[in-house]
Amino acid sequence: MAITVVVPTFNEGPNVAELVRRLDEALGAMPGSCVLFVDDSRDDTPSVIERVAAGQAARGGIPVRMIHREVADGGLSGAVVAGLRSVETEWAVVMDGDLQHPPELAPVLATRGRDAGLDVVVASRYIGGGDAGGLDGYWRRAVSTVSALLARSMFPLRLRNVTDPLTGFFAVRVGAIDLDTLRPRGFKILLEVLARGKRVLAVGEEPFVFGERYAGRSKATLRMGLRYLEQLASLRFGRMSRFAIIGGMGAVWNVLILWALTAFGMHYVIAAVIAAVVTMSVNFALQERFVFRDLRAEGRHGFWSRLAHSFAFNGTEAAVRLPVLWWIVEVTGMWPVLVQAVTLVVAFLLRFVFHAQVVYRPRRTQPPLGGALSSSQPGDGLLGASSADKRVQ
Ligand code: GDD
Ligand code: MN
Repeated sequence: MAITVVVPTFNEGPNVAELVRRLDEALGAMPGSCVLFVDDSRDDTPSVIERVAAGQAARGGIPVRMIHREVADGGLSGAVVAGLRSVETEWAVVMDGDLQHPPELAPVLATRGRDAGLDVVVASRYIGGGDAGGLDGYWRRAVSTVSALLARSMFPLRLRNVTDPLTGFFAVRVGAIDLDTLRPRGFKILLEVLARGKRVLAVGEEPFVFGERYAGRSKATLRMGLRYLEQLASLRFGRMSRFAIIGGMGAVWNVLILWALTAFGMHYVIAAVIAAVVTMSVNFALQERFVFRDLRAEGRHGFWSRLAHSFAFNGTEAAVRLPVLWWIVEVTGMWPVLVQAVTLVVAFLLRFVFHAQVVYRPRRTQPPLGGALSSSQPGDGLLGASSADKRVQ
């Protein structure tokens, strides 16, 4: 088996020689393999790559190729797609050029993919033996965890076997993906590959330890974080948008019922309790039908258990939100309306993640290590409720 290792680089000169040295060793048993740099650097990195490539050719090591782009179209993700377009082997491995991804794992990912009949094998920081240690700072780790949780909640079926949809390290059977449908921008190319295409890909995972950079600095910026939100929006937020619409309608029912009951002379506290119970029930029914329909059979909970979990969450949330609001306003002295808006948004996200990750969580179909279960399940309804419904018999 031969593979192409696609390495996007932006000003990574000091890392090139060491990366190629370790890849050369790791790919020794895979004749025909090569390393392909897709370089957008504005410094001397291209000449470093050329020098290393010449060195490899001279000593008969694995070949090193380079695509240098004058216009860094689509940034990191655009570079990966450009690289994948010119891959000639059946399998490619995408990895960073700063040695945070262990080169020794590249052949392991591709071999596992071929042997298990998968389309994509993700190197995950979040399953047994994996570690995100190299992410600098508490803040970036938290952002990474939350972003991954959101992505997995929006695409629970497509990402059912993926704990780390935002990693930059994965093997892919190039023929399995339609590069023309992708809209690469920013850093999160793997999510694009898994969530965008028409076909649901068969995905497996291997744990890995995200190491420290060998040299240089990270190119991740706040702007890339915003790009990620843009990307989620262009993926139509998966099933989150339908969940939001139902939640919004729920707020309207709630107020209408409260208004009607008090208009008939009922005490407002009793009316509020009735409004809450009715709203929760209606929302639950709509959710079952329009948001999580395809997940009901895939999940771990039966109807009554889902109902109980959903009610327990909503009840707790309603009971906790007021004291939290009061506490934040007292401690920070911020404008209560703003605090209320923020707590409502946070509560909405929590409710969505809880429903997708607990109430309707699909069972994994791929063991993280070894094994060859195939996963052919419907997608996550990128095309909206109606087409999602069609796919579910
Ligand atoms: N060609 C090209 N163009 N390469 C780029 C660009 C670009 O605009 N921006 C960054 N790169 C390259 C870097 O040179 C490096 O090889 C790789 O992409 C990853 O960039 P880093 O700057 O090292 O990113 P990071 O370590 O902060 O983030 C990594 O981990 C994240 C997970 O937390 C990346 O793998 C991300 O994709 C991943 O989401
Ligand atoms: Mn890095």
